[in-house]
Amino acid sequence: AGSGKFFVGGNWKCNGTKESIGKLISDLNSAKLESDVDVVVAPPFIYIDQVKSSLTDRMEVSAQNCWIGKGGAFTGEISGEQLKDIGCKWVILGHSERRHIIGEDDEFIGKKAAYALGQGLGVIACIGELLQEREEGKTFDVCYKQLKAFADAVPSWDDVVIAYEPVWAIGTGKVATPQQAQEVHVAVRDWLIKNVSAEVASKTRIIYGGSVNGSNCADLAKQEDIDGFLVGGASLKGLVIS
Ligand code: G3P
Repeated sequence: AGSGKFFVGGNWKCNGTKESIGKLISDLNSAKLESDVDVVVAPPFIYIDQVKSSLTDRMEVSAQNCWIGKGGAFTGEISGEQLKDIGCKWVILGHSERRHIIGEDDEFIGKKAAYALGQGLGVIACIGELLQEREEGKTFDVCYKQLKAFADAVPSWDDVVIAYEPVWAIGTGKVATPQQAQEVHVAVRDWLIKNVSAEVASKTRIIYGGSVNGSNCADLAKQEDIDGFLVGGASLKGLVIS
């Protein structure tokens, strides 16, 4: 397993209002969190300031995306510098919804990761196969290709957490079995050993995302190579998974 602390991220995606987010924050602030777990929440950009100013320091804040480089004349974008300025510690990059709905490609995502790391942000680097790719036996190839794009771009893995999110498990209620997830996590770690270094492979946390909730998280967390979760839907219900 990775050597870092267990990592639990809540990706709120494009959800929430000032009111519902205020409620979520007060639930989180009063929750009993295990001390050896990193807890990170990722609100939509416009609510980051609200979350930063009301969430206790026990938890950290992530963005769900950022611009590829320095800010400037890029209408509608948010730069890594601005995320740092507002108190974000992390940014999620390469989420399947950005890959498959918005059309971001590996190279673009890799560049974003490199730039964000250069600004001192941690990167939650997402990878994962589509159902069809799994059915065609291409799961590992797809994950390796997405990983390679990160590896080719990032100067260091110190502040990177890898999130394996099989696309067929996202928002579908069809969670990967602990064995399915473990199989990919171990393959990702082996890939890192062979293509980056044994040290990076052992230090980098590999977290699982896709229909994680309060009832299935314990079995997943028991797997040797599952070092945390990236939770979507369940994180909006204020469920704290540790
Ligand atoms: O980034 C987390 C996510 O994609 C998983 O979403 O709703 O299946 O937990 P969900």
